[in-house]
Amino acid sequence: MTIEASQTRKVLIYGGSGGIGFATAKILRARNYALHLVGRNAEKLVACAAELGAQYTVGDVTDSTLFARVAQEVGEPLDGLVYAVGTINLRGIQRLAEEDFIHDFRVNALGAALAVQASLPALKQSAGVASVVLFSSVAALQGFSLHASIGMAKGAVNGLTLALAAELAPKVRVNAIAPSLTRTPLGASLLASEQMAAAIAGLHPMQRLGTAEDIAALTAFLLSEEANWITGQIISVDGGRSTLRTKS
Ligand SMILES: NC(=O)c1ccc[n+]([C@@H]2O[C@H](COP(=O)([O-])OP(=O)(O)OC[C@H]3O[C@@H](n4cnc5c(N)ncnc54)[C@H](OP(=O)(O)O)[C@@H]3O)[C@@H](O)[C@H]2O)c1
Repeated sequence: MTIEASQTRKVLIYGGSGGIGFATAKILRARNYALHLVGRNAEKLVACAAELGAQYTVGDVTDSTLFARVAQEVGEPLDGLVYAVGTINLRGIQRLAEEDFIHDFRVNALGAALAVQASLPALKQSAGVASVVLFSSVAALQGFSLHASIGMAKGAVNGLTLALAAELAPKVRVNAIAPSLTRTPLGASLLASEQMAAAIAGLHPMQRLGTAEDIAALTAFLLSEEANWITGQIISVDGGRSTLRTKS
């Protein structure tokens, strides 16, 4: 009997009320995982948690006291951690202030590190191999103009993923997913015009933008026991954008 079949596995999702986080939570709920969601907007988070029968903690990842509070409320053991919090701040280098770089780094990279650090004792108590899923971006694997700050922050997530995967093996697996533009509240400003959305979709070999479900499917797989031999990977889910040229 697999561990999933014999006992409820618990997953903590930072950004669990967001596009990708909530789509992941819905898949996991259907598979009988117990869930704990974290987000900033209390009203939205409470509604998401109520829909899925999940526990929740309201807080901002730029407040470093949040992580210990979450760990205490989640308790032990913990089988999976997803850090699906991010920013989008696309500006030329001359229009980025020091505070912009620091904010993007805090939310995308430092928050991920502090979330893993605070959850580690509980992850180590998992009956099986625990799994951490972080979020990188296509913009950390390929150069895009106006992406200096987010590219830098997501590049740090890639380094964090590799270092933690090495340090925490074999008890905890650590992987990151690198999406291209996906239809969620985060990308809404870029997709405000349908003309712009169609133009960006056309840059992808698969000729469409990502959906939260495209990304959530891999997130749920990486959390499952079926992925127990996958660690230290930064996996692109990007309609072929990072690796393919369909026209020469
Ligand atoms: N969507 C894309 O095109 C895309 C592309 C590449 C990478 N990614 C990455 O994928 C991950 C998930 O993104 P998404 O598209 O699902 O974003 P989203 O729909 O905007 O959801 C973000 C989630 O994070 C929470 N959050 C944001 N800032 C927070 C903060 N400072 N403190 C606590 N919670 C905070 C939000 O809660 P509130 O709503 O309450 O603030 C929400 O639950 C991110 O790491 C993002 O960088 C996304």
